[in-house]
Amino acid sequence: MLRQFFIALSRNKIVRRWAESSRLGLRMSSRFVAGTTEEQGIAATHTVNELGLSVTLDHLGENVTNADEARASAKSYHQMLDAIGTHALDANVSCKLTHLGFDVDAALCKELVTSLIDHAARVHSFVRVDMEGSPYTQRTLDLVKELHRGNGIGDAVGTVIQSYLRRSEADVEQLCAEKTRIRLVKGAYKEPPDIAFPKKADVDASFVKLMKIMLKSGVYHAIATHDERMIADTIAFADREKIPPDAFEFQMLYGIRRDLQEQLVREGWRMRVYIPFGTEWYPYFMRRLAERPANVWFIARNMLRK
Ligand code: FDA
Repeated sequence: MLRQFFIALSRNKIVRRWAESSRLGLRMSSRFVAGTTEEQGIAATHTVNELGLSVTLDHLGENVTNADEARASAKSYHQMLDAIGTHALDANVSCKLTHLGFDVDAALCKELVTSLIDHAARVHSFVRVDMEGSPYTQRTLDLVKELHRGNGIGDAVGTVIQSYLRRSEADVEQLCAEKTRIRLVKGAYKEPPDIAFPKKADVDASFVKLMKIMLKSGVYHAIATHDERMIADTIAFADREKIPPDAFEFQMLYGIRRDLQEQLVREGWRMRVYIPFGTEWYPYFMRRLAERPANVWFIARNMLRK
């Protein structure tokens, strides 16, 4: 119920406008968002890198409504890639296609993403195309596959698979066959039961099944979860199959389970932290509350203490 409530709230324009322009909203979001500016995103990257963890930087935003906005977000990603190169950061970038104009002009979006991948390849970085709601799944996979095959820069792009989707096993098999790097997640959007498993137990079982296919594929994939059971199953499988710790990475979100992030690195596993920044933090923040409604009390308590 609460998950549905927060996901519905994530689409409310009035609350969004208030939250993103208020001091209170900004303070609340700081638990999961590194700041509103690129400098703050880069500063957080330095801090996380110093702890021995890699980073993926996300300039928050989605569903832009015109070509200028799409070009502006691409520009910001180019600046990030420049900063990654200049500061020799252990970082790559994550972007959403709808932030780069997917809904506005698919050809423009393709052009913008291609130039980002090209730039990432030049600075030895990487572009991860995040996965959005199910209306975008096929279109996203089609574009990523096309980009992965193209122009010798394909190794610098990968995408995301959501274990809650019933279709994901077939998608994982296909992406692995094409040697496309996958980030495996459970999935953060509201989806109907004919498309996605409604029960957590089925989503988790699917996650473990897909993780095993991915780790056996020999491609460098990412297992992105804060779920200790999923992590334990991944480690047990890697040990059993003699898959070395540098053959894949774990990923977690900024501000969530920092203890576990650092513990896994101490134990010799690779960890990448997803660091979001930007003024358009509201939908991202609401999805984090939807995943764990208890965060509302946690945030409120912390704010009262300050
Ligand atoms: P689950 O939700 O079962 O949580 C397991 C445990 O983790 C909880 O009991 C709690 O302890 C902790 N936890 C989980 N979420 C928390 C939160 N918000 N606050 C505090 N504790 C929390 N989704 C998507 O649809 N498309 C995408 O592209 C991405 N990208 C992405 C990148 C990275 C690096 C991560 C880690 C996640 C995503 N996601 C995503 C989000 C993902 O789909 C999923 O919603 C969250 O990771 C939460 O699921 P868990 O696997 O952590 O398990």
